Amino acid sequence: MATAAIPMWAPSEVLHEGAEATVTAGTWIGKPAVLKMRRPRGYRHPDLDRRLTRQRLSVESRVLGRLHLMGFPSPSLYDLDVEEGWMLLSRIDGRPLCDALRDGSAGLAVVKSAGALIRRLHEAGFSHGDMTTHNILVDASGRLSLIDFGLSRISPELEHMGLDLQVLNECLTASHSEFEGAVEAMVEGYLGDGGGEFRARDVVSRFDAIRGRVRYHG
Ligand SMILES: Nc1ncnc2c1ncn2[C@@H]1O[C@H](COP(=O)(O)OP(=O)(O)OP(=O)(O)O)[C@@H](O)[C@H]1O
Ligand SMILES: [Mg+2]
Repeated sequence: MATAAIPMWAPSEVLHEGAEATVTAGTWIGKPAVLKMRRPRGYRHPDLDRRLTRQRLSVESRVLGRLHLMGFPSPSLYDLDVEEGWMLLSRIDGRPLCDALRDGSAGLAVVKSAGALIRRLHEAGFSHGDMTTHNILVDASGRLSLIDFGLSRISPELEHMGLDLQVLNECLTASHSEFEGAVEAMVEGYLGDGGGEFRARDVVSRFDAIRGRVRYHG
């Protein structure tokens, strides 16, 4: 669809052209915004493709709405069209954690904060589903935000939460192999002070079990 048809939207530059989505920066009623437009996948049957697009946009918008109410650092949802496959979000100040880790501007303290943020997400009743260092944004003062909730689960099982830790672990060990102590920092951040109702230790135990499975089969 032509993005000119989206009310109040003034695009400026393409930020990301991925397999699933194109993300364009611009303004919406004068506010810094991004348009996330799902791309039709040629190899999927069009009906299935539309169904998946609707499903992902609807879960992402529900999660973002609830996170917004909690003051969680994630984009605000400005507008969406589930049929056309797009979403307008507030623009987050920051760049992907993978870039900041690579050039050394983020270190263990930031990884620990990432662990704490993932715990907050889980405590709120969501798993992320794609917890890579591309979906964690970090600003100039080291503050983190999470984006990209299309594969989230509402009321996740232990396995989904353990997998979030495992996906981040894989990013930290694979693409940032030099990075000693990163996984320990992530877990330390996730466990926090150990207080509250949330059973963070059970999630970490599941994460350890998943890690063991991956090692054994890998
Ligand atoms: N609200 C936002 N503010 C600033 N940058 C954003 C925002 N949303 C997305 N981006 C940028 O666009 C990139 C892709 O967005 P996102 O992760 O939501 O799409 P995606 O589903 O991963 O797309 P694909 O699967 O096609 O790669 C992000 O890594 C980030 O750099
Ligand atoms: Mg992403």
